[in-house]
Amino acid sequence: MPADDLAMAYRRLNASYQQTLRYAEDVRRLYRQVQGAIYQSLLGLANALEAKDAYTRGHSERVGRWSRQAARALGLAPEEAEMIGQAGLLHDIGKIGVPEAVLRKRAGLEADEWAQMRRHPVIGAQIVAPFEFFAAGAITIRHHHERLDGSGYPDGLAGAAIPLGARVVAVADVYDALTSDRPYRAALTPAAAAEHLHAEAGGTLDGDVVVAFLETMRGLREEVPRVGARAALPGAAGTPAR
Ligand SMILES: [Fe+2]
Repeated sequence: MPADDLAMAYRRLNASYQQTLRYAEDVRRLYRQVQGAIYQSLLGLANALEAKDAYTRGHSERVGRWSRQAARALGLAPEEAEMIGQAGLLHDIGKIGVPEAVLRKRAGLEADEWAQMRRHPVIGAQIVAPFEFFAAGAITIRHHHERLDGSGYPDGLAGAAIPLGARVVAVADVYDALTSDRPYRAALTPAAAAEHLHAEAGGTLDGDVVVAFLETMRGLREEVPRVGARAALPGAAGTPAR
């Protein structure tokens, strides 16, 4: 092949390669746009839930934000931390499927009402299940009420069998529940809530996650005590998130 033809062929090859790169970038941008649109729709659902259940007002966003921060502090990759943050934002979305009468009843739930309430992680995972790119998020949502010692629900998973994202969301969820007012008790101070997390570390909550979570919170609120100050907290916590 003459040199000119070879140069021409090379230029054509290079041009189509550049074109392919541009297409790939277009596809990536479209994919991100679609993902963003789906998140926005899910966020709309989460907001609808907040309208239905005053308890979750502001709660979803805080749990989402804090879960993302704690995941980063644990050294997870940015995409994974982002997934955990989104799952934190949507963790209670399954409460959409719980009757309002049960959601609004704050104390004295009957056994069958508890059973309905405890279905929300599974319902939430089912709501986001159609979004394949969010499969890890669905798993995180399903397991956000598991406890490290195996006493949680829906599957009674224990220790490392609980997906890490779910262990992260659980800590943020419990912390926000403790620092929010409840009909049966006033909000704990951040310091008292931090002590409660320490007391539960290695019991119901993942100890490493508690440390990472409180590290990030200390950056935000000076009154949270230093990690390692493990004061016991006899009975001060009340009922954490459900
Ligand atoms: Fe929940």
